[in-house]
Formats: sequence, structure tokens, C-alpha cells
Amino acid sequence: MTTNADLLARRNAAVPRALGHATNAYAHRALNAEVWDVEGTRYVDFAGGIAVLNTGHCHPRIMAAARAQMERFTHTCVQVLAYEPYIELAERLNALAPFTGRARTIFFTTGAEAVENAVKIARVATGRGGIIAFSGAFHGRTIMTSALTGKTLPYKRGFGPFPPEIYHVPFPVEHHGVTVADSLRALEYLFRSDIEPGRVAAIMIEPIQGEGGFYEAPAELLQALRGICDAHGILLVSDEVQAGFGRTGKMFGIEHSAVEPDLVTVAKSLAGGFPLSGVIGRDMIMQAAEPGGLGGTYAGNPIACAAALAVLDVIEDEKLLSRADLIGGRIKQRLHAIAQRNDTLPIGAIRGPGAMIGFEIFKGRGGTEPDPDATKRVTSRALQEGLILLSCGVYANVIRVLVPLTVQDDILEEGLGKLERALAA
Ligand SMILES: Cc1ncc(COP(=O)(O)O)c(C=O)c1O
Repeated sequence: MTTNADLLARRNAAVPRALGHATNAYAHRALNAEVWDVEGTRYVDFAGGIAVLNTGHCHPRIMAAARAQMERFTHTCVQVLAYEPYIELAERLNALAPFTGRARTIFFTTGAEAVENAVKIARVATGRGGIIAFSGAFHGRTIMTSALTGKTLPYKRGFGPFPPEIYHVPFPVEHHGVTVADSLRALEYLFRSDIEPGRVAAIMIEPIQGEGGFYEAPAELLQALRGICDAHGILLVSDEVQAGFGRTGKMFGIEHSAVEPDLVTVAKSLAGGFPLSGVIGRDMIMQAAEPGGLGGTYAGNPIACAAALAVLDVIEDEKLLSRADLIGGRIKQRLHAIAQRNDTLPIGAIRGPGAMIGFEIFKGRGGTEPDPDATKRVTSRALQEGLILLSCGVYANVIRVLVPLTVQDDILEEGLGKLERALAA
């Protein structure tokens, strides 16, 4: 039998250390919210491949759709011979777009590629160069998206120089001492000191920060940004790569604020485990680039498009938006009960719309000083308990729950029991 230790040794000899791993378990098979490693150990999966598996591992309808497409053809390059699943998926996403008016969608492969292309589209549509993002944001690992990411370590150090005309303002998190008013004041200063609004192409924001710590952008911030964008001809980009496709109880995270973005980046749970990303945007903006200016050899892979069509069906037929609210409610209820106990680590700031749930581990009960070491212990204890659990956050003290929305009730309860044991003091 191949063991996890064998594979780790081979990994250490063959793969650079820059590729981080949340666990040292090697996957063998997976189904819905359960994963088995190469040694046959079973885990409940609260990570969902980092927000990719809102519809669970290997959903039979998604697998069947992918398999059927695979039997027909796997690749033509959409720029050589286009295919119906691409067009149909664009039509479906245009109908779901979180803004009024006509939409268009173009597909890519990774989340970072979607963000890169949103920048290109915003620039060509406005004829301006500046892009404003937020501290704590995560937009990817390419050079442009690393530049947009609002966290230096491990995403920026040593990788520069970065492209010019990228600016950051603080993201409001009350217990980090930053209010919405502070963020808006910083933006105002930025307009005075570094780039006047007339040179800004886009403001990019995650409606709920993912990697940065599961902090929700307050509706009043999004509303204020919309107003500023409208006043100055700036485009508002909602990066829905992590928050999208039902995770928050709505199809897109920004829908909680009733603010309409101009461009939306999507990936991860869009295609249930197949690599696919896209930019959904307003008609005129999406038409600005010249033919041939956007695309990619593998962009909008037909298997991934077929899978994504099945994902949209599953979200609708299995009512996963209301299921997200239900699951999230159960998780939060359990966490609030744990927070009351004094035989567990001090946890608090339990939050999140739908099933995009985060909470923090603090150094003292009732305090807000982050405890990243205890957080690390919790994720490794969770693994020993048979639970795959991820941390995140600018202070590395946030636990995030990204359990598939299709999880069975008993598996969810089992996972929460494991989480509770991992949080023991
Ligand atoms: C909000 C957000 N944008 C962009 C990305 C980059 O996506 P990818 O890793 O597929 O390039 C991520 C990945 O975690 C993300 O959470």
C-alpha cells in the first residue's frame, strides 16, 4: 500500500516547497462531503477543495454531464471550433447576472485568469489604467493578481516588481479598528495623493473576503463605492471567485447588499471541480475589447462547461441556496454554544452569510487578540479527528467552513462534533 508518508517523501524530493499544503494526507477517492486518503482513512470535508465543491465531490449528475461531454470531444479550442455548452453556459450566467440590463460572459480557466481579464476589460472599456483593491484581499497568484492581493506574505515577498497603477485601501473590520468611514476616508486620501478618480478604471472588491478572513464587505461600504464609481465613471468589480454559486445563500455574494456591480469574476464552485472561470459583465463594457483580445487555448474547456451547466441545475433542483442558509444556521448555532463554554479555546466573531462561515480564535476569552498558533493546532487536531478544516485571515486566526452545500445532515453533525473536539482547550 502507498502511504501518506511515502508520498510526502516523494513530494519533498520532486516538488518545490513553495507549494503549500493544508494537510499531509494524500487523496484517494471522495464522495460528496467525505474523502478517503491513500491509507483508507476517512475524513469529513469542511474545505471543499477551497470553495470549489458547493455541490460536493463527484456529484452524480455533474459527473454524468462531464462524462457525456468527454465521450464526444475534450478540446477543440473555442477560438477554433466553438461548441454549444460554452454558449449555453454564457446564456445561463447572463440570466443570473447580479445586475440589470443585458449581460455577456466570457470564460477562462482559473480564478486569477478571470481577475486578470476583468482588469483588461475594465481598462479597455474606460481607457484608464488605475485599479483599486483592498487590504486583506486575495485575487490570485499571477503577477497582476498578486499585485491586487492585499497581503504581502507569502503572496508578494520576493516576487516583485509588480505592475504599476495598483492601489489599496484598508478593508473595514471593526475589531481590527477599521470602520467603513475609515475605508472611505482612505479612498478619498488616495484620490488626492496618488491617483485622481479620472484615471481609475475599476475598484475591485470581494463581497465577502475569502483568504483574507471571511469578512463581509458592509452593505454601506458597497453602496458608497457604487456611488463613487457612478460619480467618476469607475467600474465596480465584484470578485465572486470564493463567495459565488450559492455559498452565501444567494447565487452571488454581492446580492446581499443590493448593489449592482459592472463586472463579476467567477470560478471555483462554478464547475464543481473542473477548472473553469469567467467574467460576467454589462454588455457595452464586455464589447469594448477587439476580437482576439481576450481568450486562451484552454479557456472555457467543453468538459468544464458541461459540468458547470449541471452545477447550475443541481443548485436549482436541490435548492442549495436555502440549504446554505439552513446549514450555515446550524453551524453558527453550534459555534455560539461552543463560544459559551470555558473548556474550549476562546472563539468569537462568529459570522458569515449562508454557509460561508468564519470564526476567530483569540488569546483570551472576550478579547480580540488573534491566536494563530492555537489556530494551527486546531486545524491539525481536526485532521487527527478526521476533519479537513482550513484557516485563513490576515492574522491567520480565522477558521473557515466551506462544507459542501449537499452535505448529508448526519455527516454535517459528525463534522461539527469533530470540530468541537478540535477546539477543546
Ligand atoms: C476571491 C478570489 N479571487 C481569486 C482567486 C484566485 O483563484 P485561482 O486560485 O483559481 O487562480 C481566489 C482563490 O482563492 C479567490 O478566493
